[in-house]
Amino acid sequence: MSTRCPVSAGAAAFDPFGDAYQADPAASLRWSRDEEPVFYSPTIGYWVVTRYEDVKAVFRDNLLFSPSIALEKITPVCDEATSVLARYDYAMARTLVNEDEPEHMPRRRALMDPFTPKELAHHEPMVRRLTREYVDRFVDSGQADLVDEMLWEIPLTVALHFLGVPEEDMDTLREYSIAHTVNTWGRPSPEEQVAVAEAVGRFWQYAGKVLGKLREDPSGHGWMPFSIRVQREKPEVITDSYLHSIMMAGIVAAHETTANAAANAIKLLLENRRAWEEICADPGLIPNAVEECLRHSGSVAAWRRLVTADTSIGGVEIPKGAKLLIVNSSANRDERHFDNADEFDIRRENTADHLTFGYGSHQCMGKNLARMEIQIFLEELTRRLPHLELVPDQTFSYLPNTSFRGPDHLWVRWDPSANPERADP
Ligand code: HEM
Repeated sequence: MSTRCPVSAGAAAFDPFGDAYQADPAASLRWSRDEEPVFYSPTIGYWVVTRYEDVKAVFRDNLLFSPSIALEKITPVCDEATSVLARYDYAMARTLVNEDEPEHMPRRRALMDPFTPKELAHHEPMVRRLTREYVDRFVDSGQADLVDEMLWEIPLTVALHFLGVPEEDMDTLREYSIAHTVNTWGRPSPEEQVAVAEAVGRFWQYAGKVLGKLREDPSGHGWMPFSIRVQREKPEVITDSYLHSIMMAGIVAAHETTANAAANAIKLLLENRRAWEEICADPGLIPNAVEECLRHSGSVAAWRRLVTADTSIGGVEIPKGAKLLIVNSSANRDERHFDNADEFDIRRENTADHLTFGYGSHQCMGKNLARMEIQIFLEELTRRLPHLELVPDQTFSYLPNTSFRGPDHLWVRWDPSANPERADP
């Protein structure tokens, strides 16, 4: 293997915490897709993979490309934060998403039932009821921050229902959830790390408390009671530490990803007014529009894998032990797979090929729940507020991190006197 320095100028300049990547990760990596689709980034110590076929090939082979580092902290933790976590007995184990075989597949299979379309259909009335209640609160006001007033809280409540957890402690959970993202994917300063560690520690303890409650009577609906029941039959597959970990990880997996995806989708549709008007006129277009939003501006911008043997990706030699940042948001805008990839086209035929949910044996288990939620949000908003528009000249801010992506706020406005339900109550 060549020993020459593998770093080109573009690679040296790459910074996933910089403004360009934060503003639009796919656009910031166009140079790479065109010139150097696999490169080493000294800034983060990762090999970066940006083309569709390469990203998909990495997702596809979970033995050669282990998911074990998917949740590893991208910024090393300071000693003080580590001791804070120890004080809370924080012991997050691997959970599905970062588990290697042969442990992963038996667990995935054992825990899959609650994600089948038949089971998910039971949640549909709850998601619609919640969405209507939240829209009721602001429908006559003329202006709203959709993130604060709807999109953050509904996926959290849906996640709690799905997991079978009581609804209380929502505000605290909101804080916990953000802390977890910064802790894993962000670049917190040492002082921030300590505050984040406190929140993560409390999140961990909260998860344990709820699990204890559920164990007393695991007969109810939800993924956690179901998992507790599976544990009785397969204690070697579903261990205690595993249940505690998935209790916390499940909330994060289901909540922020969906909240961010919904905010990205509504922003994108309102920026592309014609598409918005088309889905108002024909709600039958909504499912494909959701897929196109996930492709064009998905909420998971990049994922990670560890290389387990010397190999090559896209013709570039990669050594065993290398860490990969696989930028699925870049793959989703690769012209080699999607015609006019930067264009937003709600009728695009192959849009569901996007890699926002990953691919292969670890592909997102909650993808159909997320799709259902975003579809219902759009159905309700287009029906009740078709004249919705973005508040002009707002600047959008994003929590700095490599992977989770959605605006912190999304201000919209409309004329309440023109609400269709006033004319036709
Ligand atoms: C895994 C994205 C919503 C549960 C993943 C992965 C991604 C992802 C990228 C890793 C895939 C891979 O390694 O190939 C998303 C996005 C969502 C979303 C973009 C929303 C738009 C949800 C929801 C749930 C969920 C709502 C739960 C109800 C999971 C689980 C895994 C996973 C359990 C691990 C699967 C495994 O490793 O076998 N998700 N997710 N996700 N997601 Fe999601």
